[in-house]
Amino acid sequence: MWRADDAGGRVFPRKPSLRSAVEPFIAMDVLSAAAKLESEGRDIVHMEVGQPGAPAPAGVLEAARLALKDGRLGYTEALGIRTLRQRIARHYGETYGIDLDPERVAVTTGSSAGFMLAFLGAFDAGARIAMAVPGYPAYRNILSVLGLEAVEIPVGPDTHWILTPDHLRRAHRETPLSGLLIASPANPTGTMTPPEELEALVATCNELGIRFISDEIYHGLDFAGRAETALRFSNEAIVINSFSKYYCMTGWRIGWMVLPEYLVRPMECLAQSLYISVPDLSQRAAIAAFDCTQELEAIKAGYARNRTLLLERMPKLGFQAIPPADGAFYVYASVARFTNDSTSFARRMLEEASVAATPGADFDPARGHLTMRFSFAGAEEAMQEGLSRLERWLA
Ligand SMILES: Cc1ncc(COP(=O)(O)O)c(C=O)c1O
Repeated sequence: MWRADDAGGRVFPRKPSLRSAVEPFIAMDVLSAAAKLESEGRDIVHMEVGQPGAPAPAGVLEAARLALKDGRLGYTEALGIRTLRQRIARHYGETYGIDLDPERVAVTTGSSAGFMLAFLGAFDAGARIAMAVPGYPAYRNILSVLGLEAVEIPVGPDTHWILTPDHLRRAHRETPLSGLLIASPANPTGTMTPPEELEALVATCNELGIRFISDEIYHGLDFAGRAETALRFSNEAIVINSFSKYYCMTGWRIGWMVLPEYLVRPMECLAQSLYISVPDLSQRAAIAAFDCTQELEAIKAGYARNRTLLLERMPKLGFQAIPPADGAFYVYASVARFTNDSTSFARRMLEEASVAATPGADFDPARGHLTMRFSFAGAEEAMQEGLSRLERWLA
């Protein structure tokens, strides 16, 4: 594969690195296909990405305007501006009754960068990290580019789509694990790990010497009981969160981590070199997000109505085996009645019905050919329109 340059000398192999060979993030590919159709004048209902239809709350926008007026946006400390780290720590007091030292908070460019830092800072190459499948696809892709191994543990209706201590023990017995990553509420199933189950998982990890990583990005978006933070049960857990979902700030690319003390400095050094700092504008705006609860709760009430609508109408359209969707903003449904190839089904749905949704292969490589995920984070009218289009298309 060596190619000559213009002068005929040997230069470099004209092929990408082996480690860059990750599967595409299909939801993003669907977003891209939908954007192309929109650029050609088509009207698309977006149910593919987990992205709030609402803009960031008014208080956040106002804080951003003030920051812009101030004019100077610079690098910040790599772990984030102190006022934001303090405000995040206060949020743990207000929401969970947990007293958190702001020094343990690291602000990141979305939770996506949080995962990168956490995996780099906590594990050496070759480490095995367990997670539930179906699950968020970027986990396995990030792990794979970093030379780590994703150990995907299939979960299903028998355990309410929750990964249990039994699953963990079995996987660890087969080949020892270094980490466990749990999301509750979960993407794509919307299931929540109840507090006592979370506590049992944390205890099992402690007993087996497995690091616990808790993806709490969908906290605040719970429709059947409040999500508990892993910090309740352990100061050793790495907790990852974001302003993207409840706070409606996907495009601002800002999230945070809560770290055990010994990981703070290593993460700071990694962040300094990997991306220097999180955008100053997003940080200054995000401070206001925690004081926009009234507006955010109204948006959440809209999701709750969308959820009721989809859970009621989708089974009538032939979508089956839908997990409870207790949290987050997704309906994950079997499309076995229509197809055994959900990827081409999704393509046809986009082209013929102008509804964008994500095929299950993104979340579950083995079983996802029979499932699809629909996000209900959009406006209520958009959800109504999406369902009507699907009804006509499937008739
Ligand atoms: C479970 C989960 N974790 C993390 C992310 C990444 O979000 P962000 O980088 O915007 O914080 C997403 C996005 O959809 C997600 O669903």
